[in-house]
Amino acid sequence: MTDFAGNQTIIEFVYLIASVLFILSLKWLSSPSTARHGVWAGELGMLLAICGTLLHQGIVDYKWIAIALVIGSGIGVPLGLVQMTAVPQRTALSHAFGALCVTLVGSAEFYLRSPDVPGFMMAVLSMEVILGGLTFTGSLMAAGKLQEILPQRPLTYKGQNFVNLLLLVGAIVVAVYLVMNPGAKQFFPVMLGISLVFGVLLVIPIGGADMPTVISLLNSYAGLSAAAMGFVLNSKLLIIAGALDGSSGLILSVIMSKAMNRSFTNVLFGAFGQVQTAATGAQEAKPVRSATAEEAAAILEAANKVVVIPGYGMAVAQAQHKVRELYDVLTRQGVDVRFAIHPVAGRMPGHMNVLLAEADIPYDRLIEMDEINGDLPQTDVALVIGANDVTNPAARNDQSSPIYGMPILDVDKAHTVMVIKRSMSPGFAGIDNPLYYLDKTLMLFGDAKSFVNNIVRELSGVHA
Ligand code: TAP
Repeated sequence: MTDFAGNQTIIEFVYLIASVLFILSLKWLSSPSTARHGVWAGELGMLLAICGTLLHQGIVDYKWIAIALVIGSGIGVPLGLVQMTAVPQRTALSHAFGALCVTLVGSAEFYLRSPDVPGFMMAVLSMEVILGGLTFTGSLMAAGKLQEILPQRPLTYKGQNFVNLLLLVGAIVVAVYLVMNPGAKQFFPVMLGISLVFGVLLVIPIGGADMPTVISLLNSYAGLSAAAMGFVLNSKLLIIAGALDGSSGLILSVIMSKAMNRSFTNVLFGAFGQVQTAATGAQEAKPVRSATAEEAAAILEAANKVVVIPGYGMAVAQAQHKVRELYDVLTRQGVDVRFAIHPVAGRMPGHMNVLLAEADIPYDRLIEMDEINGDLPQTDVALVIGANDVTNPAARNDQSSPIYGMPILDVDKAHTVMVIKRSMSPGFAGIDNPLYYLDKTLMLFGDAKSFVNNIVRELSGVHA
């Protein structure tokens, strides 16, 4: 008995430290300069939480846990090694696994306890299973769309929102019935089934461009279901971690919706993000001005203020280290070089920050969109490296554009614009970019890494 009490105290203490580490992790992750500490704190917190759980008296046999650990690690390690560009779909898969786990635990608890499930317990158990189920299938759909296994375009049909609402109400009605009749075991699979179908139908009408917002919303649902599981299992740690996960996911969704100038309901029901490649196929060829690395280097050398606008193409080309060399050589020559960060540049939140931090570009050179936009009219050269949609003036000027209303970097207001990309192909939104046809714009056609390298060689006086 004394041993048990001692063990319980140790577990509670370990959980307390883990909770504090989770909170610190989120705080530190909110700034690039402390983000690495945030990652370590989160990992340590999770390790402590797992160790604390393994000390639990309820465990009768470690054999199955060991087997699960080996299988989980076997899946988790390769998942962690994917390319940076595939992180959004990888994150969606992690949510799917987490949600599946919550759903299975909730189902097991129900069948173990039924019919003796008190009303409050049955209510949180239902919430856990409904949110877990819809997050599981919804996240799988999101991962499939981002990996392009499923069509990225919104799949819509007449009466879609009504059907979705009906399913949600249906799941809630069954949950209420189960709260009143916890012995009605045959209804539990009905509630679970509805939530699984709801997850699929919730995500299919949402287009690829909104997928990151949806993923962070699903992250929020997964957190809430984990918090509900905390009530069921009487685990304060799960309640705290789930609440942190739920609220941070929701805040991130709001930030991303704002960055795309979209309301939540619009994201969820607007069938936005249609990839419009057909529209660009019909475009007539308009003239553009192009330049060589030598000409680009001469323009950069003569500038006082340069703003670099990185985008998805920089990530694809893995050009960040070459960009760092460009930053070094220009800074040595007295040019003021800063980086304009659009909140949805690339394919995941913070994508550009992560890449530029990896290349050790000083954090104070990374300027958020709202701040840098005021400076762009006084900027000599805006050097766009693999960015497209986030610089598209159509979002500001053309009401018929699908990205109309999305805040952009006002690159077209700089004195000279240079754009490194391989061709005239569109970006993620699949639409043409009027920026490329301006008189002040020079297209630098080529792969971002090799083109930046060529500019650096020109600036350093090293000629091929
Ligand atoms: P995009 O609009 O996708 O444009 C990227 C450009 O990079 C393309 O036009 C492409 O042109 C060029 N590119 C590709 N590979 C390249 C390479 N090796 N070298 C040089 N250029 C290369 O990128 P963005 O401006 O960063 O905008 C992001 C878009 O993704 C937005 O529409 C956003 O809504 C969406 N989105 C964002 C997120 C998040 S959270 N960041 C998630 C999903 C979707 P070429 O083919 O001609 O080279």
